Amino acid sequence: MEQPESHAATDGVNRRSLLAGVGGLLAAGGAASALAPPAAADPAARPERNPRVEDLLGRMTLAEKLGQLQLVGTEDLARTALATGQLGGVFSVVGAAKLNALQKIAVERTRLRIPLIFGLDVIHGYTTNFPIPLAQGASFDPGVPAADATVSAKEARRSGIHWTYAPMMDVTHEPRWGRIAEGNGEDPYLASRMAVAKVRGYQGDDYSSPDRLAACAKHFVAYGGAEGGRDYNTVDVSLQRLHNLYLPPFKASVEAGVATVMASFNTISGVPAHGNGYVLHDVLKGAYGFRGFVVSDYTGIEELINHGLAGDGADAAAAALPAGVDMEMVSTNYVTHGQQLLAQRRITRDQLDDAVRRILLVKVKLGLFERPYVDEAGEVKAPSPAALAASRQAAGRCMVLLKNDGPVLPLAKSVGSVAVVGPLGTATYDLNGTWAGLGTGAGTTPPVTVVDGIKAAAPGANVTYTAGCTVDGTDTSGFAAAQQAARAADVTVVVVGETAAMSGEAAARSTIDLPGVQQQLVAAIKETGKPFVVVLVNGRPLTIPYLHDNAPAILEAWAPGVQGGHAVADVLFGTVNPGGKLPVSFPRAVGQIPIYYNHENTGRPADPNNKYTSKYLDLETGPLYEFGFGLSYTTFRVDGLRLSSTRLPIRGGRVQVSATVTNTGTRAGDEVVQLYLRDPVASIVQPVRRLRGFERVTLNAGASRTVSFTLTPDDVGFYDNAAKFRVEPGKIEVYVGTSSAATLTASFTVG
Ligand code: BGC
Repeated sequence: MEQPESHAATDGVNRRSLLAGVGGLLAAGGAASALAPPAAADPAARPERNPRVEDLLGRMTLAEKLGQLQLVGTEDLARTALATGQLGGVFSVVGAAKLNALQKIAVERTRLRIPLIFGLDVIHGYTTNFPIPLAQGASFDPGVPAADATVSAKEARRSGIHWTYAPMMDVTHEPRWGRIAEGNGEDPYLASRMAVAKVRGYQGDDYSSPDRLAACAKHFVAYGGAEGGRDYNTVDVSLQRLHNLYLPPFKASVEAGVATVMASFNTISGVPAHGNGYVLHDVLKGAYGFRGFVVSDYTGIEELINHGLAGDGADAAAAALPAGVDMEMVSTNYVTHGQQLLAQRRITRDQLDDAVRRILLVKVKLGLFERPYVDEAGEVKAPSPAALAASRQAAGRCMVLLKNDGPVLPLAKSVGSVAVVGPLGTATYDLNGTWAGLGTGAGTTPPVTVVDGIKAAAPGANVTYTAGCTVDGTDTSGFAAAQQAARAADVTVVVVGETAAMSGEAAARSTIDLPGVQQQLVAAIKETGKPFVVVLVNGRPLTIPYLHDNAPAILEAWAPGVQGGHAVADVLFGTVNPGGKLPVSFPRAVGQIPIYYNHENTGRPADPNNKYTSKYLDLETGPLYEFGFGLSYTTFRVDGLRLSSTRLPIRGGRVQVSATVTNTGTRAGDEVVQLYLRDPVASIVQPVRRLRGFERVTLNAGASRTVSFTLTPDDVGFYDNAAKFRVEPGKIEVYVGTSSAATLTASFTVG
């Protein structure tokens, strides 16, 4: 299988200091020195030998080898490149017949008949959109990304796609960054668990299967650190933070056998990822033992010129290939300059062969040499009932109940009348969020609206709809009609938030309030004095202190996908009891950003009674809603915290942490029991808390369950500023509860 040959060996390398690479990162070594003759490849980085691949390599011309490194994004470009036999893969072309036609040229008319690999951004669905990945993070249930990936892989592979550009696993502290929607939030442990589930869901045990895809861990690395949340922006990061915060999901994905990795657009401490030999060569291919191939992001190699690392395309190729980028997406510097760079010894034949070998190996593992074509009759053009049901169930598990005073929710199915108000009440494709794949646009069935979902859930109710305003306009003339509708109804559901285009790539916002006059619309509904609930549709955390103070109930629905309206109604009417938890802190105000639960302490932690502590003069300390927070229609108690030992031996030790969770309310529901650790004294100051375990459990009213987590030295260790993994002796505090504010505590000693 795709597992690195020996995990033990990988771990062994990991434990070693990556100091050799520190120069590469900090002194612009890897890439910049790639402009000089590069060092010999680290043996740990060598892909495995496969007889078919070795045979091909032995027969390929230089031009054919360079051709395998080229990935293009249109049919026309593919045909042009195929005419000279210089093409490795095609992306963003869909349709089984079209793909088969291109494949036919590759396997029947090129000299060595090497099949093409077909890629696509299948991010949270092919034809069946699941909730956006940020929402999936909120499920705290790896079964959700696994379900998405399983359905997506089946649909896409049966339609001729081999390779998805997912999962995106960029940890971020930046809610202004639109791409926060594509990842799983602010925590490296949660992101790792979700990424691994998704990789396994796409690839299964064998991604040659007709229902599986090769996955792509992206974007490597630290893309989520974009300064100011502005997409593509600079990232300057310490080695300890790079290894402790941004790299863990990638390391976990490599261990899970991910087939490919995509380089990121950003710099990492002055060296763009596409020319960064430290992260790609030394860490990914060396220390992690990654055997698949690295694809550039869209024109990422060419962009080394804009970054200022390369003077021209030849320089860019000479930086990227030795650094470890194997395949070039869109730009064409490898095929254009490769021969000349070899002649000038700015790249080596070993480096070229290594890249070709990696790409061919993935093609072999996909089974493309045996089965280059897809059965056109099996193409998936629309969601199946089973896929829709899986998406609806997933969406329900992703929703987070932020407030429920009264309680107003759940609504009775026997309710006489419901006024749906707000610009997103009849939203369709906006419910899919960013990267809607083939689920959006002409010829597709639009997602179920919230209005239609409510009508279906409460067939006896009189359901009205009044927009009140648009998502981002300034016109308030519709407020009066919305108020009138609210006055006439038993309850009002206000659906507000963001359009799909407001998050995702190149969709940074400088404020993260509700756009336009939507907050005023909520105020107008409040003025009626009638009961109401707010449903949020959005791709990022929003600053909503007004809603928190004024709305009786708030349901965070995110971009819930193709069954969005049904899933919202499932929760509003209590068919589904919400159990999602925030995968990211919700700030009180944009000026607090970055705000994240796993921050380091300062020498002067915030103290409201002491001015000279770390806080704002004009804002309460802490987030509006903390990481891991979410309510339910029932209540839970977590108690009985026990440790199997108060000592964790550094070598091979284990401590089992267990606690009992009890449903203390009157209806069945889900709780996510969360385990956090703190190392109060360490050679690198440690986060005030960090998640190291979670389990989502479903309990009937009155029922209890004991949840256990096993901790090993790996769980208490961290990387230092020489990228060395350290497990230090001393005390570790344990916190268990239902959010990052958990109070149940105990401790043990490492040593
Ligand atoms: C994005 C990637 C995506 C690629 C191909 C880029 O702009 O950053 O996430 O996979 O395009 O569509």
